[in-house]
Amino acid sequence: MDGKLVAGAVKKQVAQQVLQLEKHGTKPLLATVQVGDDPASASYLRTKHKATDEVGIRSETHHLPADASQDKLEALLTQLNTNPKVNGILVQLPLPPGFNEEKVIERIIPYKDVDGLHPINAGKLAAGYEELVPCTPKGVIKLLNYYKVPVAGSKAVIINRSNLVGRPLANLLLNRDATVTVCHSKTPNLSGMTRTADILISAVGKEIFQVRADHVKPNSAVVDIGLTRVNGRLRGDVEFDKVNRVAGYITPVPGGVGPMTVACLLENTILASSIQIGLKV
Ligand code: GUN
Repeated sequence: MDGKLVAGAVKKQVAQQVLQLEKHGTKPLLATVQVGDDPASASYLRTKHKATDEVGIRSETHHLPADASQDKLEALLTQLNTNPKVNGILVQLPLPPGFNEEKVIERIIPYKDVDGLHPINAGKLAAGYEELVPCTPKGVIKLLNYYKVPVAGSKAVIINRSNLVGRPLANLLLNRDATVTVCHSKTPNLSGMTRTADILISAVGKEIFQVRADHVKPNSAVVDIGLTRVNGRLRGDVEFDKVNRVAGYITPVPGGVGPMTVACLLENTILASSIQIGLKV
């Protein structure tokens, strides 16, 4: 499953929607916030800003030092919340030690929360109606749809229980009538579980391969959200070359889910802009 290809199609559509919004007098603007100088966060943000440029979404960056106070960060978010020119707000995670991440996320006004992490947005998703949903899980669903992987009636196994990936993905799959199992570090007999999966999604990010050929059901769909740097090279959770011979569908790393996350951020920025002007796009 080629994330670059599908992300390209999503971006084309977003570029059209930007033009539509401009006809209604709105030039979508995404504000990103980086706290500290984590190189991975800086790199993700560069990718996100480059993508906004590509589709005609304006963006601005706000960079606070790692030793900035919680109050200072929350004051910045209040300012972005109340600025009518700002349509989307993204605080790159993780925050440096000492910040209360939950309070920061709760400070973002829900209709500008393009990461879909605010409890209001997470709650809506869990209740079965989807508005602004987290970008990586949304990207996974788009990939499965594009490649016509059957979701309804399937058994999906997710290795991850974070608010950014595992939980929202479980809800998206459940909303599409999959039977979902969420696994984590305390799950007994993990490989016994993964071998039953029609759709297996792994987001662990450790140096050793989490998903090997004998963990996978033949002809299943394997989605790799893990990302680790090993000897300077980016690698996923899945032992691609070997699992590729067993699975029916598989995502590469890089070039799988990563580009989909960015494309869905663009889509969420359009959605947030449309919600703000009461427009259906
Ligand atoms: N850190 C890793 N992935 C993400 C993401 O999708 N959004 C934010 N805000 N932080 C992240």
